[in-house]
Amino acid sequence: MRGRILPPTRQAILEAAGIIRSGGLVAFPTETVYGLGANALDSGAVDKIFEAKGRPRDNPLILHVASVEHAARCAVIDDRAEALMRRFWPGPLTLVLRSRDLVPEDTRGGLETVALRMPQNRIALTLIEESELPIAAPSANRSGRPSPTSARVVAEDLGGHVDLILDGGECNIGLESTVVDATGESIVILRPGGVSREMLAVEVPLAEDHGLAHRSPGTRYRHYAPNLPLLLWDGKDRSFFDGLGDEKWCYMGLQRPPGKPHRAALFESTEAYAKELFARLREFEGSEASVIVAELPQKAGIGEAVRNRLFRAAGG
Ligand code: TXA
Ligand code: MG
Repeated sequence: MRGRILPPTRQAILEAAGIIRSGGLVAFPTETVYGLGANALDSGAVDKIFEAKGRPRDNPLILHVASVEHAARCAVIDDRAEALMRRFWPGPLTLVLRSRDLVPEDTRGGLETVALRMPQNRIALTLIEESELPIAAPSANRSGRPSPTSARVVAEDLGGHVDLILDGGECNIGLESTVVDATGESIVILRPGGVSREMLAVEVPLAEDHGLAHRSPGTRYRHYAPNLPLLLWDGKDRSFFDGLGDEKWCYMGLQRPPGKPHRAALFESTEAYAKELFARLREFEGSEASVIVAELPQKAGIGEAVRNRLFRAAGG
């Protein structure tokens, strides 16, 4: 039966590993968001991912591995890349490196490079180890929708396409990994995420922040979009809310807004904001409101990633 949700018992994970080995699709939890996984070395299996998500085929996938040694079978790893892996793995850092021939072109969207990460989640790591394969996994949502941070949301978006969903509860971080290009002279952040610019800068020289100049293929497409208009508040200009007139609006942010939102989510920290952002977008779009207002947090730490997702969800 498609779209089955199972608690992550050893038996369920072994069944999931069998599905991966035989070319099927398994959704699994990571510390960032849920992934839609398939055997990264099998073009036919990877094709099912693109099909299920409705994802453009030139948007490459991240390979999930269980060790640095495992990563070295898929990519060329220099000393600097290995140092970053030893410092941040397992964890929300994805490195783009020169690919080895073992990885099919379809998995990497036709590029010479491949993206790799080792997730910090016991269920994910056991699944990778038991399948003895690198697992290609984008976020387990329909392309363009907010990423899933619970098994229920995966089932809503992709239930009919996935052979099994491992339920690991809510994801700790709630936003996708930081993607860095580690092929050039300095490290370039392609997508901000769970490992902040400040944390990376302690370890390696970073290229200047060129804003949208350097982008990973995925950032060309509209992303994370809720079915309601999303307006962004800078957290300062309170007259912003006068412009809402008689609209029913939902609100999320760190500060209490003026006026009366239809529904509100107030977060105690930017980390809590990151963790709930995608789930709240989905919750609010199902309410009677006609617009969502979100406060932009400061850029520091994971704030940069929250701002990035909000800008893209709002359509740029
Ligand atoms: O936290 C995450 O990274 C989650 C979990 C499931 O691990 N995965 C995830 O995958 O967010 P996805 O496919 O939604 O986003 C992958 C991003 C895309 O923006 C893609 O373009 C970029 O990584 N990417 C993948 N391979 C790349 C490559 N070779 N060069 C540049 N960017 C690449
Ligand atoms: Mg995604």
